[in-house]
Amino acid sequence: MNKAVIPVAGLGTRLLPATKSQPKEMLPVGRKPIVQYIVEELIRMGVEEILFITGPGKTSIENHFGVDHELIQTLREKGKEDLLAELEFDRIPAHYYYTHQRQMLGLGHAVLCARSFVGDESFIVALGDSIIGLNAGSDIVRRMQRCFDEKGCAAVIAFEEVPDNEVHQYGIAQPKTNGEFFELSDIIEKPSLNEAPGNLAVAARYVFTPRIFDALDRTGPGKGGEIQLTDAIRLLIADGEKVCGVRLNGGERRYDIGNLESYFRAFAEFALADEKHGASLREYIATLSKA
Ligand code: UTP
Repeated sequence: MNKAVIPVAGLGTRLLPATKSQPKEMLPVGRKPIVQYIVEELIRMGVEEILFITGPGKTSIENHFGVDHELIQTLREKGKEDLLAELEFDRIPAHYYYTHQRQMLGLGHAVLCARSFVGDESFIVALGDSIIGLNAGSDIVRRMQRCFDEKGCAAVIAFEEVPDNEVHQYGIAQPKTNGEFFELSDIIEKPSLNEAPGNLAVAARYVFTPRIFDALDRTGPGKGGEIQLTDAIRLLIADGEKVCGVRLNGGERRYDIGNLESYFRAFAEFALADEKHGASLREYIATLSKA
């Protein structure tokens, strides 16, 4: 699949004040901003064209993926080859596109903004605030594409089992079949524990045919008054389209950066795994826990 869409227009209010004047998708986790991990994951999956759905105050994302000739020149003149290597990601042979979501009407509305970019091709959606796997090492999107090709689905969604107390934060699947690639009979956005058909939560990666746009056209405001992507997927299922799920495997985790608790955990885990500084950080933390 050649095209991917990364919605990054959300306000990130749960991370205020850190997100008052910078996008949550640009917060660092270990060495890199979150959105860089996502782009690197997509490029590894063979994606060549990436559309960011942005909003006000998000220009630093665009700057991050642009080539900064002045900075490169300065580092070259100072002989800082090691630091130049840190900028190699901006030479990735990908095409980046940016469009504004002009009103914050929710994730479904953000995806709808990708319609003319996508045309009649199938495409990937990767949420701009979630990294999959330590250092984004997951190949979930490749498995999702395989499911998409083998099963002929209108949509494939990544899922992760979450504890009961997190069910109300995510879209929750009602599986119809078992197996590595399972079919869905329903999906419910942010249900209460009583309403939830299980604890398989949407894990921030989707593969769609353009039929999702027709479903989004017919989707009114849902939970929180927002146009929910989950509700459009539900419409696809109601239309008789095949919608499938793929589970993250044991070695994969979704690092959701949307709230402080999971952001702190993600940062700690990535920093502790850092090749150069992880070991000394571990020692430092041990001294703190003794104090
Ligand atoms: P969230 O559902 O976490 O929403 O977005 P949010 O608005 O960013 O965060 P809070 O609730 O105010 O703290 C999940 C992903 O979808 C994007 C966000 O940028 C994030 O990457 N998104 C969300 C949009 O692009 N547009 C929207 O209208 C909502």
